[in-house]
Amino acid sequence: PRVTFIEPNGTEHPVEIANGYSVMEGALNNSIRGIDGDCGGNCACGTCHVYVAAEWRERTGRQSEMEHDMLEFAEGVREDSRLCCQIEMSDTLDGLVVHIADSQH
Ligand code: FES
Repeated sequence: PRVTFIEPNGTEHPVEIANGYSVMEGALNNSIRGIDGDCGGNCACGTCHVYVAAEWRERTGRQSEMEHDMLEFAEGVREDSRLCCQIEMSDTLDGLVVHIADSQH
């Protein structure tokens, strides 16, 4: 499945991420700037913060409680904020669009 990361300046980076991998792992494998994944995907660092495009929010789901707590430490948090290590790729997310948070860029 394909995910498009959009930088704060509007530059788009479409990448393929295999099913079962997290969006954060896919970003790291493709050297997407602004997604660091410092904790290795354990919902414990907040450096994989993204904004999920409106039309995808239903399919990615909402922040878990643990994720919500961790996001308290991230900058620029909004309603559509997610930690993308907590979004697992599957065919239903093919075409997903996420925006990289300005504060991390
Ligand atoms: Fe650390 Fe997602 S990689 S919270």
